Amino acid sequence: DPADLDARVRAAKATLGDRVVILGHFYQREEVVTHADFVGDSFQLANASLTRPDAEAIVFCGVHFMAETADLLSGPEQAVILPNLAAGCSMADMADIDQVEECWEQLTELYGTEPGEDGRVPVIPVTYMNSSAALKGFCGRNGGIVCTSSNAATVLEWAFERGQRVLFFPDQHLGRNTAKAMGVPLEAMPMWNPNKPLGGNDEQALTDAQVILWHGFCSVHRRFTPGQIEQARAEHPGVRVIVHPECPMPVVDAADESGSTEYIRKAIDAATEPTTFAIGTEVNLVQRLAAQYPQHTIFCLDPVVCPCSTMYRIHPGYLAWVLESLVAGEVPNRITVPADVADPARLALERMLAAKP
Ligand code: 13P
Ligand code: SF4
Repeated sequence: DPADLDARVRAAKATLGDRVVILGHFYQREEVVTHADFVGDSFQLANASLTRPDAEAIVFCGVHFMAETADLLSGPEQAVILPNLAAGCSMADMADIDQVEECWEQLTELYGTEPGEDGRVPVIPVTYMNSSAALKGFCGRNGGIVCTSSNAATVLEWAFERGQRVLFFPDQHLGRNTAKAMGVPLEAMPMWNPNKPLGGNDEQALTDAQVILWHGFCSVHRRFTPGQIEQARAEHPGVRVIVHPECPMPVVDAADESGSTEYIRKAIDAATEPTTFAIGTEVNLVQRLAAQYPQHTIFCLDPVVCPCSTMYRIHPGYLAWVLESLVAGEVPNRITVPADVADPARLALERMLAAKP
């Protein structure tokens, strides 16, 4: 019974008081978000995990890579808890560390490791936040950095100051959309094919590359199409179309704007006149925004609901269970990144946090 669960979460949270902080990603369902002390995009939540060093536990209502990031940034004594361990991210799973290491080995063979005359190294690895801690650690060890959808252009600039090329993973769309907006031509963005070992990839294209893309994508954002945007424009003259940069390039190109989940929220918040917004991102966020801003008409571009099924795995029942366990003195579902991965992964994250906004 939802009311019962809600009461259980409230009671356990009240008993725990300041001992626990609950963080919630924008894509979480309403019954979970309502209990969060802080709701935000992945960049804001990474920062939020630094703000309560006094709390014993950070209960992270989001997906696995976000909880790992919170563990990397929070104090060593603090426990980061993911209410359902099955809440992963299919995009993060698309960049397997062994495949990445193999790619790196081959690129190093092709480019060498010596900096050019301008002091820039041949290639800098950049990983989207939506990746395993192992991959963040790989970036930390190899002069690289992490980005989120809200700072990808800033981070790419950081990388181009230090490297002649960028190897960007896992999301080909965020990489392509961001680099394209910065003026990188599409021909200079070949995609690495991990199924084609040495020789199978086009060496000339890799040599001429400015950004080498990985083949990952988000199965939620891949559903959006330019056709949906055309239809929204036909049915709602004057509609403002905003999409997440994980959408394929033709969708971003057809939209009026693109940006992270916080960008989308802010754009709606800043609209002073009643406006119709067609949004290309996860439906739980779109529905919440529609409820929060009744002066506007806000709908999801995908007419068939478009939820992130793994974000949805954080059911309020799991939230009640982890909080009640904490009350009972147990620490369930703790996410701990092993030290050998944590140190370089933290370095890559700290480079991101220090890169100018
Ligand atoms: P944000 O960086 O906008 O929070 O997006 C995270 C995410 O998983 C999008 O699919
Ligand atoms: Fe991963 Fe896509 Fe879900 Fe974001 S929306 S957590 S990228 S599967």
